[in-house]
Amino acid sequence: MQERLQKILARAGIASRRKAEELIREGKVTVDGIVVTEMGIRVNPDTQKIEYDGRPVVFPEKKVYILLHKPTGFLSTVHDPQGRPIITDLLPDIKERIYPVGRLDLTTEGALLLTNDGELAQEILHPSREVNKTYVARVKGRPSPKKLAALSKGIDLDGRKTWPAELTVLENEKQATTIKIVIHEGRKRQVRKMFEAVGHPVLQLTRVAYGQLELGELKPGKYRFLSPRDIKMIFRK
Ligand code: URA
Repeated sequence: MQERLQKILARAGIASRRKAEELIREGKVTVDGIVVTEMGIRVNPDTQKIEYDGRPVVFPEKKVYILLHKPTGFLSTVHDPQGRPIITDLLPDIKERIYPVGRLDLTTEGALLLTNDGELAQEILHPSREVNKTYVARVKGRPSPKKLAALSKGIDLDGRKTWPAELTVLENEKQATTIKIVIHEGRKRQVRKMFEAVGHPVLQLTRVAYGQLELGELKPGKYRFLSPRDIKMIFRK
């Protein structure tokens, strides 16, 4: 689509529109290799080569923030050489190069954030931010109060003690228990390993929230864009 040259320069973050007009007037901008000093010229940035001070004018990618309900059976990756189902298969309309913030196991479902904002992703994953992740785990058998207390206090896992966790029993069945568990660490297969360590393997695992940002009514395989307020909820305790 054609746009005024000064507007394109402004959109690329080179200068304000007024300042961009000056740069054009000063002969610092070329289109397809030719200096343009005429004001108001319309250019198509997708097909024409625009340069400022001899360097190509590029557009910073729009930042996108997505909450996906990852279903089981999808890998938390954006590329799989073996061609297995991957999360980006569920987001065919997203053109930006988004990445998941952390991972969920193949057989785990639930809240997965995706973004092209590397800084925010790092902040969410950084241990010092202690972003809580809430999971609902259906585990085999009926863990005793003593075992639940041990998990809550911290247990030895691969030679390192886990940080305190918050556990709430949601439902007791004859041979299974549904438990809500909140942790801020993000070790590989952590929730599964924790329950395995006390003899109650996980049968089903869903991440229901990042911080105070809840999965809510989002159905498996569906996604929604996040607002700045949603992003604040991730960091809220
Ligand atoms: N803990 C697990 O065991 N698996 C996940 O996918 C996430 C947390």
